[in-house]
Amino acid sequence: MAQTTAIVSVSLVLHSLAAVVWVGGMFFAHQALRPGTAALEPEPRLMLWSRVLSRFFTWVFVAIFLLLLTGYAMVFSAYNGLTATRLHIQLMQAIGILMMLIFLHLYFAPWRRFRSAVVRRDWIEGGRQLAQIRTIVTINLVLGLIVVAIGSSGRYWG
Ligand code: HEM
Repeated sequence: MAQTTAIVSVSLVLHSLAAVVWVGGMFFAHQALRPGTAALEPEPRLMLWSRVLSRFFTWVFVAIFLLLLTGYAMVFSAYNGLTATRLHIQLMQAIGILMMLIFLHLYFAPWRRFRSAVVRRDWIEGGRQLAQIRTIVTINLVLGLIVVAIGSSGRYWG
């Protein structure tokens, strides 16, 4: 019992921090950095995004690893497995996995094309790929905010 409490407490802290890093990072990129850099010339703007996003995406991989590890640690320690889990956790899991698949697509398709356009100094193609990345991040940001609302309130749904 004491061991389960410890696993759940540590997992919940790491789980929440990972969600804050991922969703908060998307919020900052979308709502502050994007409008703040819109007036720059294409070359410095795309170079800036290339450097910023390569660092942020490394942290997204860390966040995804921690969300899965700690999410399932809680499911299998406190909730006795997936069949016994409650609606909010099943919703969180479904939307969370969708977000992860969307991120993997972003990373291996438009992000790769964006990086190679930046290396070629093709700012038109780079701008096109960055617009795709922005659309995908907007979708994941909305899903992320919904998951945080579900995850943090679900235990009181009754
Ligand atoms: C993908 C698999 C996931 C699983 C299996 C999972 C599992 C869990 C579990 C078991 C809890 C505890 C809920 C309770 O005790 O009522 C929880 C809480 C939470 N989860 Fe997830 N989760 C997942 C993904 C995500 C994602 C992608 C996010 C956000 C980006 C997220 C954000 C949260 C938040 C904010 C909480 C509430 C923390 C608090 O108590 O304040 N989870 N999750």
